[in-house]
Amino acid sequence: MQKITVTKSSLKNLKSDLLVMPFTAEELNKDAEKTLTAFGLDKGALKDFKGKPGDSLVLYSGGSKLKTPRVLLLGVGDAAEAEDLRKAGLAVAQQARSLQVKSLVLDCSSISSWARTADESTAIVAELLVDSILYGLYTFDRLKSGKLEKKKGKEKDSGVRLEELKIRVNAGSVKEVREGSRCGQVIADARSLVRDLVNLPGNLLNADGVAEAARKSAEKSGCKVTVFNKEEIEQLRMGGLQAVNKGSHAPPTFTILEYKPVSKPLATVALVGKGVTFDSGGISLKPSNGMDEMKCDMAGAAAVIGTVEAAALLELPLRVVGFIPATDNMPGGAAQTPGDVITTYSGITVEVGNTDAEGRLILADALAYAVKHYKPDAVIDLATLTGACIVALGYSVAGLFSNNDRFAGKIYEAGRKSGEKVWRMPVWEEYDELIKSEVADVHNAGAKGAGSITAAKFLEKFIDGHKTWAHLDIAGPAFSAKKGKTAQGGTGFGVRLLIDLLRDW
Ligand code: BES
Ligand code: MN
Ligand code: ZN
Repeated sequence: MQKITVTKSSLKNLKSDLLVMPFTAEELNKDAEKTLTAFGLDKGALKDFKGKPGDSLVLYSGGSKLKTPRVLLLGVGDAAEAEDLRKAGLAVAQQARSLQVKSLVLDCSSISSWARTADESTAIVAELLVDSILYGLYTFDRLKSGKLEKKKGKEKDSGVRLEELKIRVNAGSVKEVREGSRCGQVIADARSLVRDLVNLPGNLLNADGVAEAARKSAEKSGCKVTVFNKEEIEQLRMGGLQAVNKGSHAPPTFTILEYKPVSKPLATVALVGKGVTFDSGGISLKPSNGMDEMKCDMAGAAAVIGTVEAAALLELPLRVVGFIPATDNMPGGAAQTPGDVITTYSGITVEVGNTDAEGRLILADALAYAVKHYKPDAVIDLATLTGACIVALGYSVAGLFSNNDRFAGKIYEAGRKSGEKVWRMPVWEEYDELIKSEVADVHNAGAKGAGSITAAKFLEKFIDGHKTWAHLDIAGPAFSAKKGKTAQGGTGFGVRLLIDLLRDW
């Protein structure tokens, strides 16, 4: 956890390990030479600095008038647009990590002018910068004991972490930047929580662990939490969740996480998240190659926990209720078998043609429960639901499925704005043909083709005709197998998208 302070002290008086000086393209042309010269820095450095969003250059400031040993020139592009600011924030984090700095000063003296060109508020610009810097600093190292590292000496990653971030602003922006950076920190913390949960492997996070994470988050944010245990799930006849859990040694849980604003809410929004803590495929066992990545199969659940937490801490004027069915999906003597017919919470019967299409079985119960007991104005589910969605849209975009054009449009816009993009696919009735069952009301696996659409069509059966439903298939963007600009593993996908959507309700 980093300490973030906003100050109007002059840059010359601020001490830290690194001073970050962002420049828009215009500022680079107009002011950069003057600024560097005024601080006693060599303006020759500007020859090597193009100033594209996320470009950066380290200068050593010995002999200058600054109290920082290094200066980082940082490009924020032409108009300081959201995407450019995010790139810039990630670049700051990358440099802070590789230079192993403990404290840095970010010069935001021009933040109000960036906000004007980007057509955003100063607070939002501050939020974006803080959130993306913290996002870029994320590491998952709690499972490393350090026992095999050399005791001393400078290793590439000897564990030095940024502890303090000081943001320098003009007097007129202090209040807004404080507010924005607090929001940025709330969102970044929620995203880190999601990433931690996704990164925890199956042996360290089971269904009880998911419920426990929701409890802990609720305690932090002041939300109400209810957890149904195995007996209660049986009593409620949540047949989908029970069926998936049959092969497991760990009991299932069903968690409800509720945030209610102080004043009368504008609306009630139900968020439903798939919480499969490990998906082996069950008796329809997955191939072993890449099966380890199936620890990410509770990313929907994690995103729901993170979003409810952030909504509460940001005091959004909406009632936001999270529904989290959790279990692992394991083979075993007691496991459900292909061909089984089960009765879900709604009473709808399902032929389980493939035990690897398990996410939709547990979501079926959760959706029906949410709609029946909470009468939400809108329902959104998030799930790492189908490999087919990765085939269609790749690893950076989520599939969007909805029965409501206006609602889908809003989610699409929130995706563009937040950088967590979604692309809509149809849920036309032609696809119903593919999930017909000869023996039950519906089939869970679907005939050949349109795998992510048939999964969505399946879910749609369980919302009891609700008029404002959306399903986000996050199988691609929830998890990144390789280390890129940010850490390998969970990405936290969904939190920013949903918070942007909820804020503009
Ligand atoms: N959890 C998987 C989907 C998945 C795949 C998530 C890759 C993340 C990365 C899901 O439970 C699954 O196994 N889906 C099957 C459905 C099929 C059996 C109808 C799939 O996509 O193959
Ligand atoms: Mn599966
Ligand atoms: Zn799954």
